[in-house]
Amino acid sequence: MAPVPVRGGMPPRPDLSNLMMSVGFMLTPTRFLDACRDRCGDYFTLRPTPDRELVVTSDPAAVKRIFTGDPDLLHAGEGNVTLAPLLGPSSVLLLDGPEHLRHRRLLLPPFHGERMRAYGQMMEEVAERRVAEWPAGRAFAVLPSMQAITLEVIMRAVFGFEDEERRERIGAPLRRLLDTVASRPRVLALALTAGRNGPLSPWRRFAAMRARADALLFEEIRARREDPRGAEGEDIFSMLLAARDPAGQPLSDAELRDELMTLLLAGHETTATALAWTFEQLTRNPEVLGCLLAAERDGEEDYLDAVVKESLRLRPVIPAVVRCLQAPMVLGGWELPAGVNVAPSIYLMHRRPDIYPDPLSFRPERFLENPPGTYEWIPFGGGIRRCLGASFAAFEMKIVIRAVLASRRLRMRPGARPEGVTRRAITFAPTRGGRVRADRAAAG
Ligand code: HEM
Repeated sequence: MAPVPVRGGMPPRPDLSNLMMSVGFMLTPTRFLDACRDRCGDYFTLRPTPDRELVVTSDPAAVKRIFTGDPDLLHAGEGNVTLAPLLGPSSVLLLDGPEHLRHRRLLLPPFHGERMRAYGQMMEEVAERRVAEWPAGRAFAVLPSMQAITLEVIMRAVFGFEDEERRERIGAPLRRLLDTVASRPRVLALALTAGRNGPLSPWRRFAAMRARADALLFEEIRARREDPRGAEGEDIFSMLLAARDPAGQPLSDAELRDELMTLLLAGHETTATALAWTFEQLTRNPEVLGCLLAAERDGEEDYLDAVVKESLRLRPVIPAVVRCLQAPMVLGGWELPAGVNVAPSIYLMHRRPDIYPDPLSFRPERFLENPPGTYEWIPFGGGIRRCLGASFAAFEMKIVIRAVLASRRLRMRPGARPEGVTRRAITFAPTRGGRVRADRAAAG
């Protein structure tokens, strides 16, 4: 391939006023991204805030270079700084360089295949119980039910399965705290009142809840450290207590607190939203549901796997990831200066017709016939920052889908307009919460 000539300056900006850009970005994010791509192509520059420039790209070659590039030159932690008040400064999501690597290595073992499968039975039990609560014979939004499942699953995976009372003592305040960042308006209210302690300040409420949750978490950390068998359990908490870095050092109490919070936050809303999208898609595509039911009956796992992948392709939950350049970098012929944020667009990559023919249709078969390359299907980001919980999430999604198929008959809505996309806190979610109708499956 001929080398692309190097151009100075930044990729084009869509010819929209700053106000229109902010409004589009916030309120109709997918339409906005489609319009930018149509006007500017595979690279464009946005300015989400006056002091921040973001180069968005959906060029597979650029995305590969970003994901395989030197992580010391492509900082991801800086891009996630808005999460610091909740997660704390030692969260793997916020770190860069050697500290990021140290934390990532300590966090990986609980997410390895065998370990993860140990959570299967618990996931199944939670899913079956929650799905049994679904109303029969009327349409409802499936997202809240999915949130309840994934939150209970991650709480139980983190804290352990046995002592429910102890788990709930920490679990209830943590749930309330996580709820303060569950929607865009709430996150915005926190950002606007950060540090202000007036009587009506959302920030003050948040800080009080965080202090209460932290006190309980630190008490639990102390209790487990003092217990000679505290690090022997199968739960993630115990495994993190036992983990040692190559220098033989464990995570400190403060680091442990931040990582526990990170897993709780990263581990539930994302998976719940992905599941809501999957059911929203399945009810609109009777042939796909038919194939899925047949494959499940025949014990063929591949089709369910393809359904999950196709759902995460067409409706990626996280629309983009961000890397902050620590040195100039040439991408797609543009010479980008240090300090610029580059954002591989998951959403736009997944809609490229050259990679995904007929990109708007929900067709799991494409993953069986002609699977995309590593840097072309990127719902979990990539490289050294790729989602730590990717296998956990896919495994959980399959268990929940199976629990639904086993006990419910989804009512089809062929031809119904797909739900629009709305921004929740960090996710792209269905505007109506993924409305479905599900009758109880006939017994036997
Ligand atoms: C469908 C569900 C999920 C989606 C779509 C998702 C997506 C992502 C994405 C896009 C990233 C950023 C990757 C990058 O910057 O390249 C990420 C990072 C991360 N995710 Fe997930 N995630 C999901 C579920 C989970 C679960 C279940 C957990 C934990 C139990 C988890 C834990 C994390 C952590 C710890 C990171 C930070 C990794 C690092 O910075 O090294 N995620 N996820």
